[in-house]
Amino acid sequence: MLPLQPRTLDARFSCVGFDCGDPGLNAALEKRIPAAIQEGRVRLIGLNAGDSRLIACIALRAAQLEVDSIDRSNVIPHLTHRIVPTMHIELLAVHKDWHGRNLGTQLLDIATDTARQVSEQIGLRFITLDATPTSIAFYEKHFFQAATFQPGRESGLLLGADDTTSMLLDLMA
Ligand SMILES: CC(C)(COP(=O)(O)OP(=O)(O)OC[C@H]1O[C@@H](n2cnc3c(N)ncnc32)[C@H](O)[C@@H]1OP(=O)(O)O)[C@@H](O)C(=O)NCCC(=O)NCCS
Repeated sequence: MLPLQPRTLDARFSCVGFDCGDPGLNAALEKRIPAAIQEGRVRLIGLNAGDSRLIACIALRAAQLEVDSIDRSNVIPHLTHRIVPTMHIELLAVHKDWHGRNLGTQLLDIATDTARQVSEQIGLRFITLDATPTSIAFYEKHFFQAATFQPGRESGLLLGADDTTSMLLDLMA
């Protein structure tokens, strides 16, 4: 399969027919992400099929972590600043018919590249996300680790689901 070209989507993007297999994420994409884009709170990057249907997307937003809330002994023993800028992955979803074709990885790589570029300007240190139970192994494969803090919840943007696991990727590791 040829690599698909990522595009930044505006609030009028269409997710008609999109189904990643997780109803909570489908609903967030349809109902909450357009408003968040409109308000300038998230950037949505999408991959479209040849007929322009959305087949995968990732929503990113600027966030921060309060270091005291992290398990410092396991995750970041040498961090000195209390408030650390982060990039939060609000949503990552691939249409279920396209699972296993590296699209999730492609979008995660875009997020990581973006975060590294930003980190040169503002000292951004982590990428954070709230992983659903079935996606934890996917993120572990990409070097994210579970951590005892709760990034993203305050925004009320996405799931707010109790069964998600907070994870982070340390860009300096
Ligand atoms: C999780 C998700 C984003 C992965 O995207 P994808 O395009 O199917 O994954 P990729 O093809 O890039 O997979 C890359 C590797 O991760 C593995 N992988 C993918 N999904 C996995 C999962 N749920 N658990 C464990 N491993 C997984 C693949 O087998 C592949 O391994 P390999 O490199 O050894 O072959 C996608 O399955 C999805 O949208 N799921 C529903 C929504 C969801 O759970 N989103 C995350 C919420 S936080």
